[in-house]
Amino acid sequence: MDITSFLRDNNLAFPLFILSTLLFISLIFKQTKLIFSKAIKNLPPGPPRLPIIGNLHQVGDRPHVSLAKLAQSFGPLISLRFGTQHVVVASSPEAAMGILKTQDRHLSSRIVPTAFQQAPLIPHSLIWSECNQTWKSLRTLCRAELFSAKALEAHSRLREEKLGKLVDFLRREQGRVIDVEDMVFTTLFNTLSCIIFGKDLLDFEDEHGTRDELKASMHAVIEYGGRVKDVGSFFPMLERFDLHGIRKGTMKLFDKVFAYWRDIIEERRVEVNSSRWSSEQAQTFLDRMLENGFSNNQINQMVMELFVAGTNTTTSTVIWAMTELVRHKEVMSKLEEELKNKVNTEKITNFQLSKLTYLQAFIKENFRLHPPVPLLLPHMAAETCEVMNYSIPKNAKIFVNVWAMGRDAKLWDNPLSFNPERFIDSKLDFKGQDFELLPFGSGRRICPGLPSGIKSVELILASLTREFDWGLPNGEDPSKLDMDDKFGIALKRKTPLKLIFKKKQASEYA
Ligand code: HEM
Repeated sequence: MDITSFLRDNNLAFPLFILSTLLFISLIFKQTKLIFSKAIKNLPPGPPRLPIIGNLHQVGDRPHVSLAKLAQSFGPLISLRFGTQHVVVASSPEAAMGILKTQDRHLSSRIVPTAFQQAPLIPHSLIWSECNQTWKSLRTLCRAELFSAKALEAHSRLREEKLGKLVDFLRREQGRVIDVEDMVFTTLFNTLSCIIFGKDLLDFEDEHGTRDELKASMHAVIEYGGRVKDVGSFFPMLERFDLHGIRKGTMKLFDKVFAYWRDIIEERRVEVNSSRWSSEQAQTFLDRMLENGFSNNQINQMVMELFVAGTNTTTSTVIWAMTELVRHKEVMSKLEEELKNKVNTEKITNFQLSKLTYLQAFIKENFRLHPPVPLLLPHMAAETCEVMNYSIPKNAKIFVNVWAMGRDAKLWDNPLSFNPERFIDSKLDFKGQDFELLPFGSGRRICPGLPSGIKSVELILASLTREFDWGLPNGEDPSKLDMDDKFGIALKRKTPLKLIFKKKQASEYA
């Protein structure tokens, strides 16, 4: 890409003008130390940089792909410069292990994206805090109340109920073309909103007229948060100016979204603070947060983070899996066969799910080719340290390209073919111990929602495959299905997955 079109496409001309002016001023005041600091020795290899923008022009709208290509030329651990920001990218299991295991303690801090730098909220963040006391206690609370075996068991009826609503809705919609993502997102969002607030916030048929506005605001937050071209984080000296209005725009959306649960919090706060309250009455995660003395800002931040981190990733996993199922009839048939042989009750139980070995292999294969968070969430170096004998400078932004590793021919036979069988007799898992397959990350920042996310994915995929026959509308050829992706907080399909479906004959599962 040439520089002029790079600047134009990314609205960088104005920020660059401001930057040049500031640079000039800072030169005059001899404050150039920050920008032209002494070259750091022994950085990992990387491509040459341009003045000011560094390597920004080499990273397009699909950074997982551009960074994978750069890794092919420069190796499994590369260093780049995005503006004034040092960036290090790991693209092999060895490099990932160096970052997420060996140097986990030094490399698990975060850089807050501009969208989420909201002064009253950010001190209460789990996702964007460094590994401090706030982060520790929020993770502990979430683990106990949302993700422990006991919590999962307590929420299993809710999960089934929401899935039942989805299946009922689909039964009524037979013969119509549906946007699967929309349905799955609504189901997952309501599951979480019932766990947190004891209430559905979305509605398949939008009886209450709330669905579109809340959903649109959530999607817009996600879109702001997932922006690749976040000028503020490339040029920290410009951050405070919020030149693209990202921070302001996100706060407006936050206010809109928070209004949906403001009254629920207030009502419950009165209950929990009353003298009649006893801990046995706590029914929801909100009750637990209130018992722990959370302010409204703390609750809003926590809930927003759970919705953003929990619903998009899980939806994206299911949508890519459905995409691969309609593209590979033989995989679909094997899954149907397994469900027929191993599930003989109306509801699919947790025990039955644990015996569905083909489903589990299928999900691993789906994670390998379509990890929903292809670069993990960016880490930051809290200290200068060494990985693979290279120096990682303090404050560097660190990406682990799990997408590239999933497609690396050095690690997988026929890496681009979708073949769940490769996992059938393999011990390889996605729980953070096997560094070639890391859809949830590893180490202290590993996704705390893994047990809950995976339970939802298994249950939704097993139920949708068991209940319905799926296909593309208008006899479209599955081999021609658009497989392009779109980078954001979660890696989504570029075009929506529109499918038709028919209820399976009841006798098939009698
Ligand atoms: C298939 C589903 C999911 C996938 C693939 C996934 C993946 C990830 C990844 C890759 C990270 C970043 C790890 C890192 O920074 O190294 C992460 C972080 C996180 N995820 Fe998930 N996630 C999923 C579901 C969920 C669910 C259901 C929840 C909660 C309801 C959740 C909550 C979080 C939180 C709070 C963090 C931040 C952890 C921290 O910074 O310490 N995730 N997830």
